[in-house]
Amino acid sequence: MSSNTSMHGHWKSRWLFILAATGSAVGLGNIWKFPYITGENGGGAFVLVYLLCISIIGIPVMIAEVSLGRMGRQSPINTMKALAKASNASPNWAIIGWMGALAGFLILSFYSVIAGWALSYTVDMANGDFVKISVEDSGSIFTSLLANPIQLTIWHTVFMVLTIAIVARGVNAGLEKAIKFLMPVLFILLFILFGYALSSDGFTQGFNFMFSFDFNKLTTESIMVAMGHAFFTLSLGLGAIMAYGAYMPENTSIAKTVVIVAFLDTAVAIMAGLAIFPIVFANGLEPSAGPGLLFQTLPIAFGQMSGGIIFGTMFFVLVSFAALSSAISLAEPIVAWMVERFNMSRNKAAAIIGISAWTLGMATVFSFNIWSDVKLFDKTPFDFLDFLTTNIILPLGGLCIALFTGWTMSQTKIKNEVGIDYPLLYKLWLFTLRFLAPIAIVAVLIKGLI
Ligand code: PHE
Repeated sequence: MSSNTSMHGHWKSRWLFILAATGSAVGLGNIWKFPYITGENGGGAFVLVYLLCISIIGIPVMIAEVSLGRMGRQSPINTMKALAKASNASPNWAIIGWMGALAGFLILSFYSVIAGWALSYTVDMANGDFVKISVEDSGSIFTSLLANPIQLTIWHTVFMVLTIAIVARGVNAGLEKAIKFLMPVLFILLFILFGYALSSDGFTQGFNFMFSFDFNKLTTESIMVAMGHAFFTLSLGLGAIMAYGAYMPENTSIAKTVVIVAFLDTAVAIMAGLAIFPIVFANGLEPSAGPGLLFQTLPIAFGQMSGGIIFGTMFFVLVSFAALSSAISLAEPIVAWMVERFNMSRNKAAAIIGISAWTLGMATVFSFNIWSDVKLFDKTPFDFLDFLTTNIILPLGGLCIALFTGWTMSQTKIKNEVGIDYPLLYKLWLFTLRFLAPIAIVAVLIKGLI
């Protein structure tokens, strides 16, 4: 069934897989979303639950998802079909692929709009619009961007076109080279910002906000958000990382590789939080400001720094690239499937998906202005799409992946695939997949939804 390579190509080395997977994992989730949901959910205790979810659910499920991908060597939908068949299991397991492809498409639609904000800020930064800016003016630049559907649409379009252009060319051609350079620079810039935050008046307060655990602030909904975000930030549960696993070279340990990716991803999120919260407190802002947090706070810092125009511009360029390397992995599962299923060119498949996701993305564009009163289950279209995908579909996808890998796959095959050298660790991993992760996911989902 599975050959050693995929028809879509493969990563040239283990490092390139790490890079690509990190590129997928590190994105708006880390730099934009993590700080603002931490702020909305009260800080420390939320961070702790998030870290727990990463370690006891995220990493084990990620190892499983990459392994399934490498065993199947096709798009997630066809990989799941093939693996189910080979294990004499129900073909309905392909639902993992279907649900994931749908979630990837839905997320791409709003992801592109938010990434558009970063593009817009890149230009404003370079223009020097934020030099010595006041807290109020920074807030109103953000508010007026959101109030302007035309502006949002333009940047959403630019971002979607870039994403689709890369997906259409295949992953090797451009992106590998770009992220090899960009990811390290992103780390360096986050360090610089962290250094700035360290010297600001709000550092202790910001640090305490993130790391002192006040469990009174933790609601059932915040536990659900923390778990959903663990999936979102690691690109789990929708086949993105499964598709990337399908292009992974044969003789590398999946487990070790996954641990590196998860570590880098978490480090970026924590650094982003440590850069942002001190600025929030030093300027008397609200940590619970919501999706605008990153965009309202960091420009103030750049505006005060010497060399702020250069650093600020670089920063938003890098955020845009981090978003781009994630967005392509959102589109990959469904594009790869269309190529396999309809024998169409990558160009055509990518264009169809891009145009459709762009169209749906307009619902997110309008959520911040002309449709801000339109509510689905009490949420704007953007909030609804985000909640449905991140907090429900991704954990469900993760649950199915854990159950399929833990209970249905042939254990000899799985054992050979994952590359966990120590028998005890392997047993622990299997136990987590079979019991711990599924029980935790189901418990959080049930509690959260009731
Ligand atoms: N992990 C990406 C981020 O944190 C988003 C993403 C989710 C990408 C799911 C692919 C799949 O921004």
